[in-house]
Amino acid sequence: MRITKSWPVAAIAITALAFSACSTGGTTSTSSSSGGTDTTSVYSPKAGGAGGDVGVFTWWAAGSEKAGLDALQGVFTKQYSNDKFVNLAVAGGAGSNAKAKLASDLQNNQPPDSFQGHAGAELTDYIAQGQIVPVNDVVNALGGSKVFPQTLLDRLTVKGNIYSVPSNIHRANVVWANPKVLQTAGVTAVPKDIKSWIADMDKVKASGVNTPLTIGGTWTQVQLFETILIADLGVDDYNGLFDGKTKWDSDKVKTAVNDYKTILTYANTASDGDDWPAATDAVIDGKAAYNVMGDWAVAEFNEKKAVDGTGYTYFPVPGTDGVFDFLADSFTLPKGAKNADGAKDWLMTIGSADGQKAFNLAKGSIPARTDVPADAFPKYQQSAMNSFKKDKIASSIAHGAAVSLAWNTDISTAISKFYAGRNADTLVSDLAAAAAKHQK
Ligand code: GAL
Repeated sequence: MRITKSWPVAAIAITALAFSACSTGGTTSTSSSSGGTDTTSVYSPKAGGAGGDVGVFTWWAAGSEKAGLDALQGVFTKQYSNDKFVNLAVAGGAGSNAKAKLASDLQNNQPPDSFQGHAGAELTDYIAQGQIVPVNDVVNALGGSKVFPQTLLDRLTVKGNIYSVPSNIHRANVVWANPKVLQTAGVTAVPKDIKSWIADMDKVKASGVNTPLTIGGTWTQVQLFETILIADLGVDDYNGLFDGKTKWDSDKVKTAVNDYKTILTYANTASDGDDWPAATDAVIDGKAAYNVMGDWAVAEFNEKKAVDGTGYTYFPVPGTDGVFDFLADSFTLPKGAKNADGAKDWLMTIGSADGQKAFNLAKGSIPARTDVPADAFPKYQQSAMNSFKKDKIASSIAHGAAVSLAWNTDISTAISKFYAGRNADTLVSDLAAAAAKHQK
């Protein structure tokens, strides 16, 4: 059975790579270690790289996520053989452990040479605290707006300066499903909205699957909730939650909270720290029908040798078709990095066409660059490229695009409390209180 809506192959613009590495090294118009505050400066890496250790901090520490990082490291080592990649990864999906360690390292002036952040609100936290410096020179050297979508550059820019290099774009509003489980349950069509999805979950349950849906720890619940918000509010009202146009205690949010409450009754029991691969694996193993996860799940399916169409299928969270719930990993240059030029070499690899191809093939995401040919990618990623081009964009709450780190923490606390107590009124008032505290 194939219930995936067919998404035509992306026809992304192919732009020739305008720059090549120059062998002299340095940055024109500004010194190479200044962080490139001159928006016209262009970084020129030394042939073979600056040399020395380059400490890179991520949460891609294990399994399919490490495979993505390994692919990037492979390209880095080839492009900059003088530089030594030092892996500072801290395990835990969505940075659930890494972010606290990073915050204390930054606080103690012990920054890594580069760290993983998210395009959007999360990045502005680091900028506001003066913890990262502009990398205009690197982005210019990579081709700037000729090779990166302007909508993405806008999310990386504050007061005219660009503060990180995006490695990829992930989609968060995807349901991953087991076709055989659905077939056994008699589910033959993609549900159009949350109500019909719940009806399908009933069918799955009646077929003998106790937990039709899988969830993991708190951040996976935040992500599930955000997708239900998008479904019930529509993308415009959802986006309005972050600029004050939509009230967090509006009737539509109350509907979403109640739908979320209902949907949780179909899910497994989870503890705060449960990571995402187990929730995805349960779909692969046929123990559940559905998991809502970002498309890093594709890397997990590949690792488990599950086949698109027979081993797994996918569709936008019902009610969110035509919306791309966006997040992008983006790498920074921290203030006080010990090897700033080595870090810039790393950023050059991150932003290079070769780096983006190798990384995104392994990670399940799509390249942030627009000049990496789509036909190199499997079907799912081609469909995501096409959606990103034509869909309306929503910003992910769980993954740093929509809200600051502090706001995300308060939303996560509210969601975790709700998981324990299931009190819809309390969740609505906690969410409204968090917005009142953090909305600028
Ligand atoms: C996100 C990150 C993804 C993936 C995911 C699960 O925050 O952007 O690349 O790593 O967490 O760990």
